[in-house]
Amino acid sequence: MLACVLIALAFISCDCGKNPAIQVILTNKGLQSGRHVAAGWIQEKLDHVTLPDISGEIRVGFLLHIGYKLTGITIIKSDFPEPSVEFYQGFSGLKTSIEGLNVALTGSWEAHCGFVHGGGSFDMALFGVDVVSIVQLGRDAGGRLSLTSVNCNAQLGDLNTHFYGNRSWLLCLVEGHFKKNLRGQIENMICPAVDELIANLESHLKDMRVNFQVNQDLTLDLPLIGPPVVSASSLQLGLKGQFYSVKCPKEPPFVAMPFATPEQPAYMLSVGLSDFTVNSASFSYFSADLLQAFINDSMIPPSSPVRLNTTSLGPFIPQLPKMFPDLLMTLQIYATNFPVFSFRSGAVVLSSSGAVKAFAIQRNATLTPLFKLHVDSGFTGKVWVADGRLKGSVTMDNFTLSLEATEIGPFKTDALENMTQTLIERTILPQLNEKLATGFALPHTKHAQLVNPVLTVEEGFVAFNSDAMLLEDTIFN
Ligand SMILES: *[C@@H]1O[C@H](CO)[C@@H](O)[C@H](O)[C@H]1NC(C)=O
Ligand SMILES: *[C@@H]1O[C@H](CO)[C@@H](O)[C@H](O)[C@H]1NC(C)=O
Ligand SMILES: *[C@@H]1O[C@H](CO)[C@@H](O)[C@H](O)[C@H]1NC(C)=O
Ligand SMILES: *[C@@H]1O[C@H](CO)[C@@H](O)[C@H](O)[C@H]1NC(C)=O
Ligand SMILES: *[C@@H]1O[C@H](CO)[C@@H](O)[C@H](O)[C@H]1NC(C)=O
Ligand SMILES: *[C@@H]1O[C@H](CO)[C@@H](O)[C@H](O)[C@H]1NC(C)=O
Repeated sequence: MLACVLIALAFISCDCGKNPAIQVILTNKGLQSGRHVAAGWIQEKLDHVTLPDISGEIRVGFLLHIGYKLTGITIIKSDFPEPSVEFYQGFSGLKTSIEGLNVALTGSWEAHCGFVHGGGSFDMALFGVDVVSIVQLGRDAGGRLSLTSVNCNAQLGDLNTHFYGNRSWLLCLVEGHFKKNLRGQIENMICPAVDELIANLESHLKDMRVNFQVNQDLTLDLPLIGPPVVSASSLQLGLKGQFYSVKCPKEPPFVAMPFATPEQPAYMLSVGLSDFTVNSASFSYFSADLLQAFINDSMIPPSSPVRLNTTSLGPFIPQLPKMFPDLLMTLQIYATNFPVFSFRSGAVVLSSSGAVKAFAIQRNATLTPLFKLHVDSGFTGKVWVADGRLKGSVTMDNFTLSLEATEIGPFKTDALENMTQTLIERTILPQLNEKLATGFALPHTKHAQLVNPVLTVEEGFVAFNSDAMLLEDTIFN
């Protein structure tokens, strides 16, 4: 345990030069479906905006000099057109264009010309607002996705104003000049507002977690390993995807291998998961001493003809019932190395090696050691997604037992090996396969639901492709 603590203290996360173990690809189809939701989100924001005050001066010749101020400007209605969004390779980002936005505003005005003062309320309509914004995607020091506004251009097509109240002729008198002045001011306000919106999104990203507590034993690290890669047709993120033991976080003696998740334009989202991620979980359980168990007779299925006691094991180990007549036994099973998963085209192969220590349970409850076996086993599994659940099946490829140490003299292990293998194949695997056939619900969030997910096992990684349905109500709440 002390060693673990020391390792944990010395453990400094350096992701330099590593390969991502999880790749996430957002395709153009995914971007376009996200666009619709984003448009709704912006519309929602727009409807609650209070614009900054506008003040200015209009000089016509030497004589006329009118100062004005518009305050409490609020949006009463906006007619937000569906924006167009595309991947923008040049800036490694996204380009968003809005064309023909119309906005109705209301507020108060005051104006003065020399000693003549006027004031009241106004209505204003902005027509044909065009905005083009380019946002660069990056990776911040903490491994989170970052957004930076790199370019913004705004143009206002036309505007209409109606002034109510006392001496509104003050402004009507110079309508042409006033419109021009106001138009410039409004155009200059749009890009700072867009930048603020982006900064707002960026602050949400800053709060995103890149490390998750999976259960009481494991954490999962998901920071970006490198900057996002934007092509003309997709956005690709490379995540660390490594599990760590809570009790004993240390680096495994293997690294993530490079792999390439194929881009599938027919799906919104593709995720590639390297076998490194699964093996980092296996390694974490192993290094925290969690891959061990005691097995006693009460856990053997009642249907089994062989019981875990010295009488019942007599046919396999002849001297056992003679030396320890009719005593219950217990087995300590533990992994001697971490089980290794390999993703092969179409299958998941698991190989594990472990040890079994057998004890006789004396009538006074003392455990007397009997022998120790070395066990190697190999399994092949298939995994797929059906009915929105992750399902699978497992078969055993090989199973070998050998005697490593004995307190009761040597004995042949062939018959014992055959019996154990039969027990696993007839009782343990059918139960496991029944569970795997029912499957596990796929991870979901309250913001999105997967549609038509497909999973295939490739050489070195699992490829997961899916469409998603974004649940808009939950995004706005
Ligand atoms: C117009 O002026 C009168 C007198 O100065 C004032 O009582 C009234 O509130 C003003 N109306 C508006 C809409 O400002
Ligand atoms: C067998 O294991 C179960 C569960 O771990 C335990 O409740 C029971 O007391 C054990 N029996 C013996 C004989 O050790
Ligand atoms: C051991 O198993 C046999 C069946 O194989 C059973 O008859 C016997 O009662 C068991 N002994 C103990 C101590 O449980
Ligand atoms: C328990 O019983 C065994 C065998 O009868 C004996 O060797 C051992 O000393 C006993 N242990 C205790 C703590 O009584
Ligand atoms: C078990 O089977 C796997 C292939 O299924 C093979 O690679 C491995 O060498 C076998 N192990 C033993 C001990 O036979
Ligand atoms: C186990 O033994 C039985 C009969 O003794 C034999 O038919 C069977 O093929 C053996 N199984 C294995 C896996 O060796």
